[in-house]
Amino acid sequence: AIDIKTLRAATGMVTIDPGYKNTGSCESAITFLDGEQGILRYRGYSIEDLAEKADFLEVAYLLIFGELPNKEQLEKFHSDIKEESQVDEEMKKILDGFPKSAHPMGVLSSLTSALVAFNPSCVDVSSESAMYNSIVRILAKFPVLVAWAMRKKKGLPLDYGDDTLGYVENIHKMMFKRPNQEYKRDPIAIDALDKLLILHADHEQNCSTSTVRIVGSSHAGLFASLSAGISALWGPLHGGANQAVLEMLEAIEADGGDTKKYMAKAKDKDDPFRLMGFGHRVYKNFDPRAKIIKKSADEVLGNLGIEDPILDIAKGLEKEALEDQYFVDRKLYPNVDFYSGIIYRALGIPTEMFTVMFALGRLPGWIAQWREMRLRKEPIGRPRQVYIGENLRSFVPLEKR
Ligand code: ACO
Repeated sequence: AIDIKTLRAATGMVTIDPGYKNTGSCESAITFLDGEQGILRYRGYSIEDLAEKADFLEVAYLLIFGELPNKEQLEKFHSDIKEESQVDEEMKKILDGFPKSAHPMGVLSSLTSALVAFNPSCVDVSSESAMYNSIVRILAKFPVLVAWAMRKKKGLPLDYGDDTLGYVENIHKMMFKRPNQEYKRDPIAIDALDKLLILHADHEQNCSTSTVRIVGSSHAGLFASLSAGISALWGPLHGGANQAVLEMLEAIEADGGDTKKYMAKAKDKDDPFRLMGFGHRVYKNFDPRAKIIKKSADEVLGNLGIEDPILDIAKGLEKEALEDQYFVDRKLYPNVDFYSGIIYRALGIPTEMFTVMFALGRLPGWIAQWREMRLRKEPIGRPRQVYIGENLRSFVPLEKR
């Protein structure tokens, strides 16, 4: 038998980089991130400028097509999306099949995958126009699925969208309209949502985005790639952290608000507890998104007249962490998920829906990365490994084992 060493030598050199901490998977012109300085830009525009001056649909267009749209381009894009806003009635049967207790991220990834059955043309990835067809359809239908997931959680009947409303305003309506009541525009909530969605819209090659690119690299189609990305986002080390943060803050509050006790737990290497919403693979400085969201949390709660004790607990934890040697040495700062849940909670969004809101914001980024990967004709993603198992063994029949 050829021994493993000889076989390994025949396969050439393979680098091992668990977690891809230092391995680039692609070249990309979409998002620039400097983790040391805490800089984030979409297509060259600073996140601070975009969050302040643009709306979510403009940012989606920018990420996907590379330039800010002019008025006509934006109107055409929005009108193409509105054309596709219907979700097949049969999809409701799938939604009905889930128990109310189902986690909305599972519901969302399943429904996104199921959409392919009702939009068979969306498996076509062979041309720019075929991709555009998938892109406008998902930008139209995904918010409907998000609204369905939330209304199911809240036990509310499903609501239809309204084509006369703006993109984010329509999402707000589909999520919040009360049965038998007129929909009332809520500018504070809509502006807050718009900003949060922009801040989540892309973040280069994170776990879910890499998943979307790698699934898409097999030509699986946009919806299947997105469904996989949603599953990757669900985990508490990634997008699921926003739910975990709020649950942690509530637990600290219920425990008498003793932040020092939880700081000690986070530093104890024998305790699996981590300070959720802290730390980042790439940021070794303040996450610029967290800075904007913290300010926004103050504004939104102030404007809504809400005094939330967990906002004070969050600020207390941040202050302690900034002065604590453990966190300073490891460069652990609040990330995007630390303050976002406080705003979602103030807007009346259930905790289990927080990661779904993240997915809604990340949708344009996933689409942009998928489109870039297709246009650059990237090869199928297929990492290598270093085999460390048994050498060739003789088969032992069942009765002799
Ligand atoms: N609380 C306590 N200690 C932490 C934390 C934390 N939140 N994050 C990292 N550390 C410590 C680790 O224990 C490790 O310590 P050591 O060097 O003594 O062993 C060191 O800091 C480095 O941590 P790693 O886990 O190696 O860093 P990695 O880059 O692999 O992980 C991650 C980054 C997953 C974000 C991590 O910081 C974490 O688990 N944070 C909490 C979860 C979270 O907020 N995730 C959201 C990230 S943002 C996003 O995905 C949208």
